Amino acid sequence: MNDFSFFSPTRIVFGKNALESIGSELGRIGCTKALIVYGGGSARAAGTLDRVEASLDAAGIAHVELGGVRPNPEITLVREGIELARSEKVDVVVPVGGGSVMDTAKAIALGAVYDGDVWDFFVHRAAPTERIPVAAVPTLPASGSEASNSSVISNDAEHLKCGINTDLNRPVAAFMDPELTYTLPPYQTAAGAVDIISHVMERFFSGEPAVPVTDHIACGIIRSVIECAPRALAQPDDYDARANLMWAGTLAHNGLAGCGVNVPSSRDGDWTCHGLEHELSALDTSITHGAGLAVIFPAWMRYVWREHPERFLTFAREVFDIKAVDGSDEAIEDAVTATIDELQEFFVSLGMPRTLGAFDVHEDDIERMIPGLTLNRGEVFGSFKQLTLDDARAIYRSAL
Ligand code: NZQ
Ligand code: ZN
Repeated sequence: MNDFSFFSPTRIVFGKNALESIGSELGRIGCTKALIVYGGGSARAAGTLDRVEASLDAAGIAHVELGGVRPNPEITLVREGIELARSEKVDVVVPVGGGSVMDTAKAIALGAVYDGDVWDFFVHRAAPTERIPVAAVPTLPASGSEASNSSVISNDAEHLKCGINTDLNRPVAAFMDPELTYTLPPYQTAAGAVDIISHVMERFFSGEPAVPVTDHIACGIIRSVIECAPRALAQPDDYDARANLMWAGTLAHNGLAGCGVNVPSSRDGDWTCHGLEHELSALDTSITHGAGLAVIFPAWMRYVWREHPERFLTFAREVFDIKAVDGSDEAIEDAVTATIDELQEFFVSLGMPRTLGAFDVHEDDIERMIPGLTLNRGEVFGSFKQLTLDDARAIYRSAL
């Protein structure tokens, strides 16, 4: 087991009454004025914003609002939020929405206390040293942003989508009511399930040796998603299915699922598939992150599995109860291929695409993704198997 440093400071308030605690919890940690951030209107329509405001009002916490965050959120609105946070002197940012809303809130929280342009952080021109606290109200189990160290923001003018990882990004609290997710469109529920599974797999397939305790946690999270996502799609108000998905989403990306299989002195996983997917969403901002991963992850797996077949065999056994009939190369290849096929069929059964063609992404688009990939990942990347930009081109091509 590799040495690791696990830091998950987010207080999780989970359940049907979670929103009622927002005001008292923020009051307890000394907050007096909140900037509520939300998206295109789902939180308003569902009455969630009203409930958040009522909870803040009851605790005497003042609030202002910023709406209009789009999926694959853009830097322009972040800058607007920073101006508002400064002029209104807010001391906490409260995102109510999915990963896009939470990541926007995190970027505002970093930028409001920084003299330069917040984009500096995303292109590694500067490192943040402080932030306003963020207290999240997630409405979509997917990104895990409610407890993660990441914020991912697009810059349309520069055709880029970039992330900043820092412990300053970890929210101080997350108020998680599974009932808020009943209104999700099926496509978002499905894409969220893929994203959750992907956050675990990025860590599981780090290239590092097995760690049974972490591997069991990791595969248990994945099995739970495989069990609960179809139930949530069949019956959107299945509380238990929604609650398990929501908690799985947090556990998949707060760092727990990578302890000991982390890459020493580096990322807590491989993260190549996220890198390849982020360029896809930068190419076309209408592509949903989880849907992109549903295409990219199986393609990457087919390309790299021979580097560490033993990790794939563990995954095969723990997640799908697939075993190689003997230790021959042929039996191992059969078991691994059956596992990747089964995973991909599961994604497709949820309503996710199988190929990049489904996004209208074709051969001549591949080159357009390479400059962003080079900026974000360099010319050599990945820990399960070190890849070059030519390997990235080949993986994209295999997914067309
Ligand atoms: O904008 P509204 O009206 O809220 O609608 C949203 C949006 O259209 C809708 N939605 C959210 N909750 C809903 C709902 N509709 C009905 N009922 C609800 N309860 O869902 C749509 C998608 O929302 P979005 O926030 O974009 O989705 P998601 O949570 O999947 O977040 C995706 C973003 O997170 C980033 C992705 O790259 C992408 O930009 N990620 C962030 C990470 C992090 N911070 O740790 C890690 C991830 O790997 C990921 O990269
Ligand atoms: Zn993701």
